[in-house]
Amino acid sequence: MNDLDRLRSELMAAIADAADVAALEQIRVLALGKKGRITSMMKDLGTLDADERKAFGQALNILKTDIAKAIGSHHDDLSSKELDARLMEERVDVTLPARSEQQGRIHPISQTIDEVVAILGEMGFTVVEGPDIEDDWHNFTALNIPPDHPARQEHDTFYLPGNSDDERVVLRTHTSPVQIRTMQMTEPPLRIIAPGRTYRCDDDATHSPMFHQVEGLVVDETTHMGHLKGCLIDFCRAFFGIEDLPVRFRPSYFPFTEPSAEVDIGCTREGGEFRIGHGDDWMEILGCGMVNSRVLDNCNIDSTRYQGFAFGLGIERMAMLKYGIPDLRTFYESDLRWLRHYGFSALDVPSMVGGLNR
Ligand code: PHE
Repeated sequence: MNDLDRLRSELMAAIADAADVAALEQIRVLALGKKGRITSMMKDLGTLDADERKAFGQALNILKTDIAKAIGSHHDDLSSKELDARLMEERVDVTLPARSEQQGRIHPISQTIDEVVAILGEMGFTVVEGPDIEDDWHNFTALNIPPDHPARQEHDTFYLPGNSDDERVVLRTHTSPVQIRTMQMTEPPLRIIAPGRTYRCDDDATHSPMFHQVEGLVVDETTHMGHLKGCLIDFCRAFFGIEDLPVRFRPSYFPFTEPSAEVDIGCTREGGEFRIGHGDDWMEILGCGMVNSRVLDNCNIDSTRYQGFAFGLGIERMAMLKYGIPDLRTFYESDLRWLRHYGFSALDVPSMVGGLNR
């Protein structure tokens, strides 16, 4: 056996013995690296005479190619074995049920917003958002509430310091400024809802300085009061899960809608117990109306061509009625016992298909 054959069998044996990719790499460096054994023999070829150089050079080249091939194929084997081992070790059984010890709860406000969005989303409304800090124009003036309008007093506005009167900034007192922003930004037809925080300087068992509303707005060339009624009756019945829930539209006044109405749902208060459904009493739940043509004009929407309706509802009030939560203030106390009692499982995502009453 000549030197080259000996080297070949030595290297081949080492390659076969290499237990992992790192050991194999070491062998590669020792044989084929810059200072590797085969590499140095190649460098030494120059010292041989011409005939010898040719024969030895050819044999060396073959050895070099074979060793590189052997390393390559053993490398593939080893790395696929290493991958298999890792996959086994890091195996995740996706068929296991969710961990029953999960403790987190979805807050009733988030749940109620999700429910409202699920119902109205099914009807074709898209969710949009607006800023909590508004300027006077978006919160009031554009909504047909000019500076001397008595409705301004009713809003118990939080004014932020620093700006002159006509550029005053406020914490939005309702989600209606999102109507304005949407109409300014998008061409009709529009069908949007805007859930979000609202603020009024008021604090007792039924009022909180921060609360949540969902605004709705439809603007196109044909929508009329009949659509408004149909949409909100369907909404109330789906939300409370009562198919024949009595819904009443009572004439009212909002500067930004004309005509305006408040919506009441049927309830009973017999024997001190409050129940939603058929009964001899009514409970007010939202405000609505046909968008006032002045509001359309303020947003540069042609009010001779376009019309539509808007509505606004209070999330806390809807949640209190649906889930029997007696005190508004408890929503914000972060009391874990309360959250465990009134909260919802993170896995129960509300949808019209999955049902909204779990
Ligand atoms: N923005 C009114 C409120 O906060 C509710 C409302 C919205 C009424 C849209 C009519 C139309 O009381």
